[in-house]
Amino acid sequence: MSYCNFSIMFIISYKILLLIENLMDDCCTITISQQKGGSGKTTIAAHLAVSLSQMNKRVAAIDIDPQGSLSRWHGIRQERYGNGFTGINLISKAGWKVQNEIFSLKTKYDYIIIDSPPHNETDAKTAIRTSDLVIIPMQPSPTDLWATDNTTSFCKQNNIPYQILLNRVPPNSKILPTLTKNLENILKTTIGNRVAFSSSFLDGKCITETQPNSPAAKEIKELVNEIITAIKIIKSGQVAV
Ligand SMILES: Nc1ncnc2c1ncn2[C@@H]1O[C@H](COP(=O)(O)OP(=O)(O)O)[C@@H](O)[C@H]1O
Ligand SMILES: [Mg+2]
Repeated sequence: MSYCNFSIMFIISYKILLLIENLMDDCCTITISQQKGGSGKTTIAAHLAVSLSQMNKRVAAIDIDPQGSLSRWHGIRQERYGNGFTGINLISKAGWKVQNEIFSLKTKYDYIIIDSPPHNETDAKTAIRTSDLVIIPMQPSPTDLWATDNTTSFCKQNNIPYQILLNRVPPNSKILPTLTKNLENILKTTIGNRVAFSSSFLDGKCITETQPNSPAAKEIKELVNEIITAIKIIKSGQVAV
């Protein structure tokens, strides 16, 4: 190969690499993580994915929890809306394939939402390390608070921005101010304890679809907007973890 051909090949490869890097930069990966089971990870992952898709964003969701609740919910969703018409590309993955999967999706989607298993397992750690933002759902109880420590410490060690989402908050919760007084990075939006979340979920749907004008749907919309704003700040490099 002549020197001239080699230079052209080099420039083309470099440009392609830059293009891929730009595409990857445009994508945002959000992992929903919390050591405690039942804190609302799957519920929040599904609602975030559906809401973003309702905003015409290209959304992939990865279920890395061996329990597979998000995948089961998506299976029902496919029956309701038809294969390929759920608004979300759901991928079920575990083990060493997780990281490769995330990287290959980054060039094709605006958002990748990852639902992770309880306990800080290897896959959950991999997902956190490759994320732009980690959302940690926490119910207002001492055991949820203690379980949260592990995830926040792991995010801090790895320089990954995180936000705590207070979930299933009862009205006028007296314990909340005491529980949260030493917590950093709490989202302003809180999610109430609402049965409608479960009923829409059973039908493969989300509350913004089944009851779009309900208080629960309003909370989810506020949550999504707050998360989008947080991501803009993170991507602009103005955030200190
Ligand atoms: N804000 C909420 N209000 C009422 N029920 C909720 C709420 N968030 C989650 N749940 C319910 O709590 C249970 C556990 O939620 P889930 O999302 O499966 O938690 P995780 O994935 O962390 O184990 C489910 O039955 C779900 O419907
Ligand atoms: Mg779950």
